[in-house]
Amino acid sequence: MRLKISFHLFCILAIASIGGLLFGYTTGVIAPALLFLESAYQMSGFEKGFLVSIAILGGLFGAITGGFYADRLGRKLTLVLSSILFILSSLFLMLADSILGLLMGRLLIGYAIGIFTLIVPLYIAEMAPASSRGGLVTLNQLAITIGILLSFLLGYAFSNSGNWRALFGLGLVPAGIQLFGLLFLPETPYYLISRNKIREARGILQKYHLEEAAVLSEIEKHERSDHHLKWRDLFRTTFFPALLIGVGLSFFQQATGINAIIYYAPQIFKMAGFGSNKALLLATVGLGVVNVIATTVALTLLDRSGRRPLLLIGLAGMFFSLLLLSAGSFWGGRFDGFITILSLLIYIISFAVGLGVATWVLISEIFPLQVRGRAMGLSIFFNWATNYFIALTFLDLVSFMGRGGTFLIYAIIALLGYLFIYKKVPETKGKTLDEIEEFWKTKRS
Ligand code: BGC
Repeated sequence: MRLKISFHLFCILAIASIGGLLFGYTTGVIAPALLFLESAYQMSGFEKGFLVSIAILGGLFGAITGGFYADRLGRKLTLVLSSILFILSSLFLMLADSILGLLMGRLLIGYAIGIFTLIVPLYIAEMAPASSRGGLVTLNQLAITIGILLSFLLGYAFSNSGNWRALFGLGLVPAGIQLFGLLFLPETPYYLISRNKIREARGILQKYHLEEAAVLSEIEKHERSDHHLKWRDLFRTTFFPALLIGVGLSFFQQATGINAIIYYAPQIFKMAGFGSNKALLLATVGLGVVNVIATTVALTLLDRSGRRPLLLIGLAGMFFSLLLLSAGSFWGGRFDGFITILSLLIYIISFAVGLGVATWVLISEIFPLQVRGRAMGLSIFFNWATNYFIALTFLDLVSFMGRGGTFLIYAIIALLGYLFIYKKVPETKGKTLDEIEEFWKTKRS
């Protein structure tokens, strides 16, 4: 991909994207950490489940309050806040010496990454030129997948020592680099405009060669607009269609089972007949690698082929691979293991090129400036809420209706997701944020 931005701007966006890496790392690290903790603390099944899910609960609140911080404190300060919170909670986790301490640390770190899931794509979308916005927002998803892979690899590396404190503590390295880098980040021009700091906004636009005309027309509109919108205004006909898309994409990104696979990949491989722990962990690392590679490919395609084709192809692939996964478990017999690997590979690639990248891009670009932070917050709240539900129910569903039945349900949800996107989601490739806003208005009239 040839990004039409300066190296300086690229570094700024990369620093913001470290938030995605910390999100991915925290998502993935709990699997190996749990293995080590359960022998250190003799944890019950309930305690283990609670340790996994309490961070998701934290994320849920982080996303919703993050939108509020982003609109009130500004994009930059919200990034700083979540980075500091991440550092404090990593220290807390690393030094914890009771289950209660661990639970509190996980709640806090969940809250920090919940804010990251909102603020990172928002910051990038508002700093990026329209022509490369898709690829640049995808830096966030790429960072997420690298974070997940790192956590799998480090889990594997520490498997002999069982050092969970080191696993939690290593998150401090990227977080420290990010906090230092954040000192040099500018506020986004869009936020400055929303605070009537027009001269400063112009300064940033000129410095980073962003589309002055488009953003300046936003200034003009802002002067005419209502500055004191409330939460309930999100449900006005002006904003509602975009909100429906944000919430819908979030829901389908999670309800099609991605985190059942990320959190429980070793267990799924085990059910399909893989023997040793080493083989399970290695197969899981393999999925992590494929996820990173497929996301890198998607990054180069988003601004060329557009969001819609990738989403539709991705969902079709997810539907097909989930059906195959289900069929393998019903009728695979001695080929079950092979079919499981093959279908999980197709599934991860399809997720990565479709819902993985496009959800975050679309959520960061479809909302009008006046409500952007809060509308994103609400959409991402649904992402976390659905994630929570899937993580909590996956193992019970498997014992209730088997692997085949469970993946069949996810396949049906993928089909519904395809129809939703086909009917509702507009193409935003190459449009400025301002043009996207205009699109909603013409749609209404
Ligand atoms: C999702 C995460 C998921 C990750 C996997 C992200 O887009 O929001 O929940 O774990 O992709 O790559």
